[in-house]
Amino acid sequence: MLYDLYARRLRHQLRGLPKPQHVAIVMDGNRRWARGAGYDDVRIGHRFGAKHLEQFLQWSADAGITCVTAWVASADNLRKRDSSEVGYLMELTESVLADHVRRDHRWRLHVAGQLDLLPDSTARALKDAVELSRDRDAGDLTLAIGYSGRLEVLDAVRSVLDEAAAEGRSLEDVADGLTEEDIGRHLYVPGLPDPDLVIRTSGELRMSDFLLWQATRSEIEFCDLYWPAFREVDLLRALRTYGQRRLQRSS
Ligand code: IPE
Ligand code: MG
Repeated sequence: MLYDLYARRLRHQLRGLPKPQHVAIVMDGNRRWARGAGYDDVRIGHRFGAKHLEQFLQWSADAGITCVTAWVASADNLRKRDSSEVGYLMELTESVLADHVRRDHRWRLHVAGQLDLLPDSTARALKDAVELSRDRDAGDLTLAIGYSGRLEVLDAVRSVLDEAAAEGRSLEDVADGLTEEDIGRHLYVPGLPDPDLVIRTSGELRMSDFLLWQATRSEIEFCDLYWPAFREVDLLRALRTYGQRRLQRSS
């Protein structure tokens, strides 16, 4: 009841404030949330976390956000965490995230990251969901999985050079003419607007190699809650802060 009133008040305050088109979310704190809730098995945190993204997408759509990028797992996460945890994250990616895209016709799916780090079945489930959602136009959802921002930029530079080599251009010519747009066209998901707002949960104050190229001008909002405990009012508060900051900057 009080919560509903608060949410309504926040929605009211958002009227007339600048609104982000693209929100990126670092869903951090699943394991700490699970331990805090008394579960020994941290996989329960990941399960709640994955289901929570479904809710977040609905809240985002309700708030008029048309583009969402969600950090599912970094390249480092996949390399460094034990194989049973990574295996479970992959299972959730197939059974919850890719499945959500199949059922919720709003989102056109994109995947950012190194698909070759993923098990075949996960890579296939994601590719199928990308294919299936290709013609949707209400919203763009990017799942960052096996993702590293530095590697994305390196890969982009590599493919700019490959393309130039295929056209028979000299290195001097490429170096002279290289632009931001050239890099942008070769990112994992070209053509999306840069994120206006990046939210990271769990109180960690780092970017951790997320959207290195795209987030240079983004507003960043850090939230102390663990990801499974992040509520719609927390999103609305982040949107209010975003709107106020943008308004101040433009005045
Ligand atoms: C976020 O939660 C999910 C992934 C990065 C895979 P964590 O698994 O990082 O949980 P904490 O931060 O250790 O609590
Ligand atoms: Mg973490």
